[in-house]
Amino acid sequence: MLDALKDELLSQVNAAGDLAALEEVRVTALGKKGRITGFMKELGGLSPDERRERGQQLNALKDEIGAAIDARKADLARAHLEARLKAERIDVTLPVRPETEGRIHPISQTIDEMVAIFAEMGFSVAEGPDVEDDFHNFTALNFPPGHPARDMHDTFYLPDNGDKKMLLRTHTSPVQVRTMLNKKPPIRIIAPGRTYRSDYDMTHTPMFHQIEGLVIDEATNMGHLKGCLIEFCRAFFDVDDLPLRFRPSFFPFTEPSAEVDIGCSRKGGELKLGNYGDWLEILGCGMVHPNVLEACGIDSTKYQGFAFGMGIERVAMLKYGIPDLRTFFEADLRWLKHYGFVPLDVPSMAQGLTR
Ligand code: PHE
Repeated sequence: MLDALKDELLSQVNAAGDLAALEEVRVTALGKKGRITGFMKELGGLSPDERRERGQQLNALKDEIGAAIDARKADLARAHLEARLKAERIDVTLPVRPETEGRIHPISQTIDEMVAIFAEMGFSVAEGPDVEDDFHNFTALNFPPGHPARDMHDTFYLPDNGDKKMLLRTHTSPVQVRTMLNKKPPIRIIAPGRTYRSDYDMTHTPMFHQIEGLVIDEATNMGHLKGCLIEFCRAFFDVDDLPLRFRPSFFPFTEPSAEVDIGCSRKGGELKLGNYGDWLEILGCGMVHPNVLEACGIDSTKYQGFAFGMGIERVAMLKYGIPDLRTFFEADLRWLKHYGFVPLDVPSMAQGLTR
């Protein structure tokens, strides 16, 4: 009779399809009101000899069923894990999807490329607000009130709220001021961002982008400025022998100041970058004016450094052969498909800026 029970229970154990069903089988067999337990309870009514024999048989049965349940449990757990691993399997060797629909705008791409290059040189990225006050955009940058250079910026002023005169920043240079006011030298930052001037034609849009660079410490000189910009331009335009020409210029916030030209050729109406004898202006730079350092609470007898600023659209147009500035901001999907970049090709110095 116990043999029949054993066969029945073992087949129930093996038929249990999951852990819950198996637990039910365990309760039926070995639980407080289980069938084996029931037989155990009857032992008391037997003669001592019968009880010993029956007791041994029941214990053996109990052990055997218990072991079968444990084995089944391990099997089910393994099968469950295998099913999950199979369902959640990721084939890391699959190629990325070749055609993602979205494209990275050339401005974003260009900023990413610039950040990759300057990050390698030890610069970190700083930011400031688009809506600025007169102090950060002009006064602290050594444009005294009434200075004619202010007029050259075609500034958008916000409606007067009687408090501070607010404006849309005309360059990224106010980020220099904010950085110097907020941290002590040594400083080595770049600040890419939007800038605004009231102007609109083939080569001007009321909103455009600049990238600013600022280095302040006790020893940085004009030689470092030149080295940094030469290195940057050669990496950015990917022309190893690209010549740079530093021409004396004027900015209120740098002294001496220079404009930088890169070598090019315009033969046959086609613009080519390289050592061809012709020149193209791409950025402004100089040693930070002592008045600016002082306005930002930095001791100009101890600290010095350089700054530079560059139009992002301009160099993007040059690098990627985009003829009309205004098209950057027309949100034309056909344009973006043509000039945009695949999102997975993130620029880096190790993997290359563009692929
Ligand atoms: N802010 C200047 C401009 O917009 C560029 C510049 C930045 C020049 C830093 C020198 C140093 O024209």
